[in-house]
Amino acid sequence: MEHTYLKALGKSEVRIPSIGMGTWGIGGYGTRDTSRDKEAVEALQQGIELGMWLIDTAEMYGAGHSEELVGQAIKDSPREKVFIISKVLNTHLEYKEVIKACQRSLERLQTDFIDLYLIHFPSYRIPLEETMGAMENLVEQGLVRFIGVSNFPLNLMKEAQGYLGKTEIQANEVKYNLKCRYDEKDLLPYCQRERVTLIAYTPLEEGSLADNKLLQEVGKKYGKTAAQVALNWLICKENVITIPKAVNLRHLQENAEAMGWRISQEDLAQLSAAF
Ligand SMILES: NC(=O)c1ccc[n+]([C@@H]2O[C@H](COP(=O)([O-])OP(=O)(O)OC[C@H]3O[C@@H](n4cnc5c(N)ncnc54)[C@H](OP(=O)(O)O)[C@@H]3O)[C@@H](O)[C@H]2O)c1
Repeated sequence: MEHTYLKALGKSEVRIPSIGMGTWGIGGYGTRDTSRDKEAVEALQQGIELGMWLIDTAEMYGAGHSEELVGQAIKDSPREKVFIISKVLNTHLEYKEVIKACQRSLERLQTDFIDLYLIHFPSYRIPLEETMGAMENLVEQGLVRFIGVSNFPLNLMKEAQGYLGKTEIQANEVKYNLKCRYDEKDLLPYCQRERVTLIAYTPLEEGSLADNKLLQEVGKKYGKTAAQVALNWLICKENVITIPKAVNLRHLQENAEAMGWRISQEDLAQLSAAF
């Protein structure tokens, strides 16, 4: 049975925390917001200390400011002690644009490479083959270690893989939580069979699962909170990791402590059936 602290990334040998940190809203949402920079950098550093040393960001978040804050937060960590995910927006999917977008992200992150680089959303305008060629080129140049996709349905993810030569798609980042189970039908079983990491975003349904009565009830048995049960339900699944976003220090602590233990099979089944 897979560990609920460290898991393999896709088919690679690299092991990553099953709970990392999301950054949508850190440094702004669709626009740059510098009003909470200090708090955000401290929260990211605290999360790394707590074992959530995987950070999910994107060129889109805070119009680039999120990546700048991640860069500040990891500046003093040895680079191999953090795992950085970033994403190229679907308006930059032409070959040359992908390369340029990645270079800009590297500058904002103040680092030489991104651990996992994802296509944020599919584009129905730019041929996928062109984009995948550029993604593979980034790996060849050493600017990114691994590549993947986000918000890709199964058929498109398979198509994307078909355009790659030596490189593998190691992850697909999709919305997945107790209330949002669309991908359980096809995508999740495929990812588990073919060893592609499914990165579950919005795992707390933007915080609302933290107040859920049934989750609180189940949590009492384990001495855990509702949010911890919601996160553990995800990471108990093979090949699934998750990236809750938290700035509040109590939330960060709670999220980190959702790793390293397991809900019983019986309780997992009860939860899956109840939602
Ligand atoms: N690839 C994509 O298209 C895509 C789309 C959406 C999201 N994402 C990624 O996934 C990450 C997570 O998703 P999300 O930000 O949409 O939603 P989320 O992680 O489900 O929820 C974040 C909210 O929950 C609160 N929270 C965090 N931990 C908590 C806890 N233990 N108890 C109670 N409340 C808690 C946070 O509050 P505080 O901040 O105040 O602590 C914040 O308001 C994003 O930040 C982003 O990195 C990716």
